[in-house]
Parts: sequence; structure tokens; C-alpha cells
Amino acid sequence: MLQKPYLMVPGPTAVPERVLQAMHRPVINHRGPQYEALFRDVSDRLKTVFKTKQDVLTYPAAGTGMMEAAVVNILSPGDHVLVVSIGVFGDRFAEIAAKFGAVVEKLDFAWGEAAAPRVLAERLAGDKEGRIKAVFLTHNETSTGVTNDVQALAAACKGHPALVVVDAVSSLGAMDLAMDEWGLDVVITGSQKALMLPPGLGFMALSERAWAACAQSTMPKFYWDAQAVKKALAKGQNPYTPPVSLLFGLAEALRLIEEEGLDNIFARHRTLRAALRAGVRAMGLGLLADDKVASPGVTAVLPPTGIEAKKIQKTMRERFGITLAGGQKKLENQIFRIGHLGYVAQTDILVTLAALEMTLALLGHKVELGAGVRAAQEILMEG
Ligand SMILES: Cc1ncc(COP(=O)(O)O)c(C=O)c1O
Repeated sequence: MLQKPYLMVPGPTAVPERVLQAMHRPVINHRGPQYEALFRDVSDRLKTVFKTKQDVLTYPAAGTGMMEAAVVNILSPGDHVLVVSIGVFGDRFAEIAAKFGAVVEKLDFAWGEAAAPRVLAERLAGDKEGRIKAVFLTHNETSTGVTNDVQALAAACKGHPALVVVDAVSSLGAMDLAMDEWGLDVVITGSQKALMLPPGLGFMALSERAWAACAQSTMPKFYWDAQAVKKALAKGQNPYTPPVSLLFGLAEALRLIEEEGLDNIFARHRTLRAALRAGVRAMGLGLLADDKVASPGVTAVLPPTGIEAKKIQKTMRERFGITLAGGQKKLENQIFRIGHLGYVAQTDILVTLAALEMTLALLGHKVELGAGVRAAQEILMEG
């Protein structure tokens, strides 16, 4: 039977038609005036999304590249850092920092829970000599569907000299993040999630304190060198060949974001989260994250007893053309994840829930067809 593909994973996410069309243009010279105008324009408009006055640097990179860029630009080998981890991507920050010679201490929280600001504040209060150079945070832990209260975590770092580094790969553009107001020193993100672009662009902004740390940093870097990227940006250029077509797409994606408005986008994500969670619960399924810390962009669902998560993903994909994400590392086959960030509408949630009900029924789970869809409809009609 004919199927329409639905990419309901938490990145890469579906790309709007307008963004796809914008990228279908002849490539231009990246050292010419047309590119310079484009690059200056998008770099400027990105500041609004980051809520910062600082330069937003653009790299041809995956999110992991930006995590590495954050590490190598502000640290020197032997620096002590504190990595707050609530899942796979917090762990990744620790791994990268250790690989580059930082002395890494982890502050781990259970997967499925958010980091407690009080625990972070207590740990930093114990660092009387101010040895910890940076605190690494994950805004939205994509592997568990939990959003950290970054504002409160950053506030917990106040009074300590450590830089606050935030992985906003799966949050920026879907949930509020106010870099300057919240006192964040480094914020990184990628193009392929809430920014509604294909994978391939990474972004990083640094506070004045972070720029000062860059000037002192001795970790080796060439491609990631933020100072070189900043210098090139001052001329409306990149230090190397940028993915020009993706920048055409970025200009259009930013236009879409401006048209909808950041606050409306955040509200849309919260509504979709509420509808999806109500729908899943009405099917008798459990959720990994508590409502209080549940991500507006990705939901981790516990499969019913006796049905493997992977089986659900397989049926959703093969029978209905809907791609969901699986669990990672220790959550492999323990959960499946539904991505709802970026270019996602109410109807996408309803289609996903309807197909999930049919999938569960096909796999032998006792489910009342329509119960999940109805629960979601009721919430969507309120909004
Ligand atoms: C929170 C978070 N950080 C970092 C990454 C890494 O991004 P990439 O896969 O583009 O390297 C991801 C990807 O899913 C993510 O969700």
C-alpha cells in the first residue's frame, strides 16, 4: 500500500518545503559579495534565536563537532571540568573533554530525570579554590526526553568562576534559551533539529568570558578555531568553504521562525508534547520522563510488557511509513522515542498516535482504537 514517509525522530527532522526549495539554487562563490551579504544577514538573525548580542559562529559540522569545538576552544589540557550528565549526550561531553586531556568529574543523574540545581550548587560550593574551569550542561537530553532547567542550573553556577557550557543541539529553536540573560558562556547547536534544516551546519556563541578563555586556551585546534571563525565572520566569510546551499536554506528557515515567532513556536512544542503524552497514556503505555521535566521536543515511551520497543518501531516503519527512534545505550530496546521538534504540526501527532494504536493492536496489545487519538484531540482543540 502507498505510504507517506513521516520522519518522527528527534533529528534529523522533517525539512519544510520552503526550505528545500530555497536550497535548489545554483551554488555561488563563497568569497563573493552575494555570499557575504547572505552570511552577514543569517549570522545576525541567528542572534535573535540564541537571545544574545554575541557573534553566532557557523561551522560546517554535526552537533558532536560543535561539542568538540566548545571543548577545544575554551580549555587547556589538565583543566578540571564538571560534566553534568543525565544521559547519552551528557556522557558524550565528558568523553570528548577527557579525550582532549581535561580532568573530568561527572555529576550523574538517573536517566529519565533532570539535573538538580541544588546538587550542582553544592558541588561548586565545595570547590573553594575555583579549580573547576567549566561546567557542561545538556539543555534537552534527547536520549531520555528530559529537559534540564538550564536557567536554574546556570544560576547555581553563579558566584563560581567556571564557564557554563550548554549543549542546545536539540533545544534551541524549540524551547526557550536566553543566552545572555541566563548567563550562559558557550551555547552550541546544530541545524538538523528545531532549526528545520538538513544536517550539516553547527552553531556556537561565546560570552565575553568565554572569548577571554579562548585567548588562553592551548588545546590543539585548526578547523574548530573560534577565533579564526570570528575573524572571517567580520569579513562576512568563513575560514574555509562553507556549505553554501545549506546557508540558502538557513535564510529561509530563519524567515519561517520569524514569521511564526519564537514564543508561538515554544507554545506549539508544549502543546504537541501535552497532546502526545495524553495520547500515549490513553493507550495504556508508560512514559520515561515525569511531566515536570518532560521535553517539548522528544518523548520517550515505555513499550507494553511483552512487546519489544524495536518491534513497535519496525511495524510503524514498515506498515505505516512512520519512523520513530529507538533507545540508546542502556535504554536500547527499553524505550522508543517520538520526535516532535521543528517542523511538526498537530496533524503529525494525530497520524503518529493513530498508527501507534493500530501497531499495538496488530502486535497483540489490548488497546481501544481511537482512545489515544481522542485524548490528543481534546488537548489540541483547547489550544
Ligand atoms: C543533545 C544532543 N547533543 C548532541 C548531539 C549530537 O549531534 P550530531 O548527531 O549532529 O553529532 C545530539 C544528536 O542527537 C543531541 O541530541
